[in-house]
Amino acid sequence: MLDILIKQVHLPDGPKLVDVAISGEKIAEIAPTIEADAQEVIDGSGCLLAPPFVDPHFHMDATLSLGQPRLNNSGTLLEGIALWGELKPLLTPEAVIERALRYCDLAVSQGLLSIRTHVDVSTAPLVGVEALIDVRKQVAPYIDLQLVAFPQDGLYRAAGTEENLLRALDLGVDVVGGIPHFERTMADGARSVTRLAEIAAERGLQLDLHCDESDDPMSRHVETLAYEATRLGLGDRVVASHVTAMHSYDNYYATKLIPLIAESGMHVVPNPLINITLQGRSDTYPKRRGLTRVPELRAAGVNVAFGQDCTMDPWYSLGSADMLEVAHMGVHAVPMTSREAMAWAFQSVTLNGAKSMGLPDPTLRKGGPANMVLLQARDPIEAVRLKATRLAVIRSGKVISRTPPRIATLDLSGRPDNVNPADYAPVQHTKS
Ligand code: FE2
Repeated sequence: MLDILIKQVHLPDGPKLVDVAISGEKIAEIAPTIEADAQEVIDGSGCLLAPPFVDPHFHMDATLSLGQPRLNNSGTLLEGIALWGELKPLLTPEAVIERALRYCDLAVSQGLLSIRTHVDVSTAPLVGVEALIDVRKQVAPYIDLQLVAFPQDGLYRAAGTEENLLRALDLGVDVVGGIPHFERTMADGARSVTRLAEIAAERGLQLDLHCDESDDPMSRHVETLAYEATRLGLGDRVVASHVTAMHSYDNYYATKLIPLIAESGMHVVPNPLINITLQGRSDTYPKRRGLTRVPELRAAGVNVAFGQDCTMDPWYSLGSADMLEVAHMGVHAVPMTSREAMAWAFQSVTLNGAKSMGLPDPTLRKGGPANMVLLQARDPIEAVRLKATRLAVIRSGKVISRTPPRIATLDLSGRPDNVNPADYAPVQHTKS
């Protein structure tokens, strides 16, 4: 007997309805019709069954701390960093763990089951590191949580930061982080990229740098990162996060740079919710949007994945662990509104995110792990449009979260009385 049989769902890559059978922790079969007994039968009703969402860029040590010890009045990146500096001495392991676990509960409810979080290693003691190592262990049955050793205040701006970063790696943090544009000088920034890349190479680790998160057209550390990724053979173990300055680069320079990024094999992770709100703050009008050159990077063959970055913290007052909201903002802010590009936005918060984190391809297939989310939408574009309700979230063959479908009951004389948002569009698929 099967454990779960999901009837009549669409998969992200095609218009045909299929049944999906789950046995134990694996997908036992995907076929147009499966006739078998099951412990639980879920009526898919033509909804979209997709791999779980992936967030390749987050800050879990800061999440849900909004207002502590005060709010960010200017809304800028720099005031956010200063505010985080005020909060850090007040952190306790218990408080960090409690906030992180609450966020992970929210993430599960949103079908978000793989998260890469940066954790600040600028100052000792490493409260956030020890807390998030504990959280990583607690959530392991349902969330793949990767930790990045992130020197928020710069590798070279304060004495002892490199020692703290190395100690965090010794404690079991997974990935080497950095922030070259926040070092004191461009030269220090470039030096930090080289040093951090060498640490990653020596230890056989991945490297994920906040890179050129600014409007400054002269912030060009991504060039050094691509060079080091190639020189040290790090290739697809490298992520350049944000890269917002690329929107301000001279077009000629961008045409030289993007092939170097593609050649290096590294990934690029923009964070649309945060980029659109933090960048362009010193502009009058017109104001820059702050998103990196997503279509051009894609055209060059670079793997691009959108990240969430922040939820209710010193940098961003909103957010809800909703990667469809992230994709939705990406579509608007890039902008990228062709059918192909909107379907790609869905892929960017599922398959591309997993690739950037070095995780196995999560595409739903026979014999693969039974990790998936059932969405109240019929295809990826509709999922992005509606920020669709997560009807069921399945991890290792078990339903770990359920949400009722969003159906409004109206009270209008002479009108139909039920409104299901997924009834309001023709079925459109990725190949259209
Ligand atoms: Fe970040």
